[in-house]
Amino acid sequence: MHLKQKINHSPITCPDCSAPLVRDEELANCDQCKREFVPRSGVHNLWPKINEQTEEDLWWEERFDKLVRERGPDTAKVCEYYDEESYSEKKSQLIQWMGPQKNKRLIDIGCGPGLFAKEWVNDNDVVGVDQSFEMVSAAASRGLEAFRAPADNLPFPDSTFDGAVLIEILQAVSRPMTVLKEAVRVVKPGGVIMMSTHNGASLVKRMSYALLHHKNKLVRRLLSPVFPYHDGPAHLTFTYRELERELAVLGCREVTGQYFYLPTTYRGPAGGLLQGLLAPSLAVRAVVG
Ligand SMILES: C[S@@+](CC[C@H](N)C(=O)[O-])C[C@H]1O[C@@H](n2cnc3c(N)ncnc32)[C@H](O)[C@@H]1O
Ligand SMILES: [Zn+2]
Repeated sequence: MHLKQKINHSPITCPDCSAPLVRDEELANCDQCKREFVPRSGVHNLWPKINEQTEEDLWWEERFDKLVRERGPDTAKVCEYYDEESYSEKKSQLIQWMGPQKNKRLIDIGCGPGLFAKEWVNDNDVVGVDQSFEMVSAAASRGLEAFRAPADNLPFPDSTFDGAVLIEILQAVSRPMTVLKEAVRVVKPGGVIMMSTHNGASLVKRMSYALLHHKNKLVRRLLSPVFPYHDGPAHLTFTYRELERELAVLGCREVTGQYFYLPTTYRGPAGGLLQGLLAPSLAVRAVVG
């Protein structure tokens, strides 16, 4: 693994009072509210003091911490992707779609163990945020400047980054539209924002969701191999039109989408009715401002 020798520190703000944090090699301090941040294993915990994690957020945090401990940070299985092949194929398609990245400051929101954004660390300054400490620690070891921070309250000034990605995070947060708004806020006008998540038009996703709420245990047991679901909070889903509309409201332009027919490696443009029913995964790209 090629790690960058030196990371150019990104400007960070206090998660409690939003004042700029003053940093030296080790510590970060808030001159305004006087909170001091001491890194744990080289990773800053920029979670607000008034912890606004909902029960669902806590459930997800525990789940992802546990996945790293059980599966290790080097496999796509750590994030419950279908298999290595379709993850790596989809990842390379998305990286290509994002466009060439050089000498930029990028952010990966919900970076997990950094398997996605590690592709950019040699030529760019890449920040990763995640609520799972286990995940951010792994991301830091891959050369990301990693922070434990909430995706819906990012500890960075406006227009800090040249681009942002949100890969498979929107379905696992309690305030997805706030997460999107935050992502747009921290990206400079003209920067690209790209996300991939669960397609709400998909038949499989709709059936899995219905099954999760089905009262009859036998029906759930019989159908779960075909329409997988898990106990705990439901994965949220989003249609292309919903995300397109939301991004337009946030002032983004050039919004385009792709469907991914996982676990195969087929893909195609988003928007069509039949394609929407068949594709479980959706990716959207837009230009900010
Ligand atoms: C399915 S994983 C995707 C990881 C990575 N983007 C990738 O594709 O390899 C979702 C990640 O989102 C993180 N996450 C979930 N809710 C979050 C929140 N509210 N704030 C920050 N990160 C969150 C999880 O801890 C997990 O690492
Ligand atoms: Zn402060």
